[in-house]
Amino acid sequence: MSSQAPLVFIMAAGLGTRMKSETPKVLHRVAGRPMLHWVVAAARAAGAQRVIAILGHRADAVKAALDASFGAGAVEVVLQPEQRGTGHAVQCALPAVQGEPDDRIVAILTGDAPLLAGERVAELIAAAEASPAGMALLSTVPPRPMPYGRLVRDAHGRLEKIVEHADATEEQRRLRDTNAGFYAIRLGDLRRDLAKLRADNAKGELYLTDLVAHAYLRGGATALDAPFTEVAGINDRVDLAGVETEARRRINEAWMRVGVTMIDPATTYIDADVGPLGRDVWLAPHVTLRGKTQLGDGVRIDTGAVLTDVQVAENGYIKPYSMLSESVVGPRAEVGPFTHCRPATRIDEDARLGNFVETKKTHVMAGAKANHLAYLGDASVGAKANIGAGTITCNYNGFEKFKTTIEAGAFIGSDSQLVAPVTVGRDSYVGAGTTVTKDVPRGALALTRVKQVNVEGWAERFREAQAKRKQKPNGDH
Ligand code: UD1
Ligand code: MG
Repeated sequence: MSSQAPLVFIMAAGLGTRMKSETPKVLHRVAGRPMLHWVVAAARAAGAQRVIAILGHRADAVKAALDASFGAGAVEVVLQPEQRGTGHAVQCALPAVQGEPDDRIVAILTGDAPLLAGERVAELIAAAEASPAGMALLSTVPPRPMPYGRLVRDAHGRLEKIVEHADATEEQRRLRDTNAGFYAIRLGDLRRDLAKLRADNAKGELYLTDLVAHAYLRGGATALDAPFTEVAGINDRVDLAGVETEARRRINEAWMRVGVTMIDPATTYIDADVGPLGRDVWLAPHVTLRGKTQLGDGVRIDTGAVLTDVQVAENGYIKPYSMLSESVVGPRAEVGPFTHCRPATRIDEDARLGNFVETKKTHVMAGAKANHLAYLGDASVGAKANIGAGTITCNYNGFEKFKTTIEAGAFIGSDSQLVAPVTVGRDSYVGAGTTVTKDVPRGALALTRVKQVNVEGWAERFREAQAKRKQKPNGDH
């Protein structure tokens, strides 16, 4: 047994040509997370002491993404300047572990297979430690023919070698067990055998899989069978969508097991970093929860809502087709239908935002209401204030943004404009149709309407005059 935590290499230098993308393959997202981050997370869950990513294609972008999610330098990076095969990739990583003792186990993972669980990596490492050959790998039986390496066994069933698809005979291609592309091996054996690799094969590459033939001389590597859904690699966008579906299935199942109701899990989209979700959270069909969204107990999210980095406290209710980003919703607050909360919206307990209300950088305090058609930007709305239909905070003069303060209990009549910077005092009224350009004192009524004029009998006279014009022959129209 090796006494130290394992080292993990992640091979991620490949071009990903079949993705046909500007984005490096390993940065394509699965359930909101770059696929490489899933692999790093699995390595860490397996107790890895050092995680070393082997990068090549667009290495700078990949390193920046790793630093952004795990902290600068937390995942070490080595460069494989030219992609000359998986064996060559691992050769490029050896200098980084020069000081490590020969008895350490190294797990070698591929960066494009994000569904591998940490426990599986731990099992793989334990199998390598237990193996006389000091090596283990994951095998899998794909549900449809895949161009994977085939596991060739000797008459005693010992693993003799791996033959790559491109190099395999027809007979070898009929072998069921294939190489999933994950390995664990003692560092001393890795150092010695990597130096012996030769590119005498169909692709002219250094194949990491040739290590298996060397392990055979020590008694044979151990193959652990893993379900294909766990080890499936991503080569193109069809694979990506398949893995996304499987990731979503797992995420949804895990949430349902802890007390979340989903009317239709097949159309419920929850990113990997979402959570916690409380007990008795209720999710209607076509709900999307992204980023670091968190939901308290009893929260209901209705059809078509999209929440990105949003926290909703207990018993909050987001009604259909609402879109919220970087916002906080308090207990029992109700939002929607068709509400748009842009970043830095804060809605306190029992407050309500209704249809076609848009907010940005706005704090709506306890029990306040804006039930219809309003824009509230750079504003604070005091407790129990009422915002009438068609109210607009005019927060922007084309150059700068200004703040509107509506104090507690204020009543803003419909179709009012509040030209910021401006304060509407506590318990005051703003008459419907008012354009507020000066502060409104506490308890006052602000009114800017032109006085109404009623002209008696005007309508009838107007209609008659119009009717006469029409009857006139050759009348002008
Ligand atoms: C590899 C295995 C094959 C296995 C299959 C499972 C070899 C020779 N073959 O084939 O037995 O069935 O995975 O998916 O290993 N990479 C580098 N540098 C390189 C080449 C590849 O970092 O020079 C990385 C790739 O980015 C990728 C991984 O290694 O993450 C696997 O490479 P890929 O070219 O996809 O190997 P396969 O042909 O799929
Ligand atoms: Mg591959």
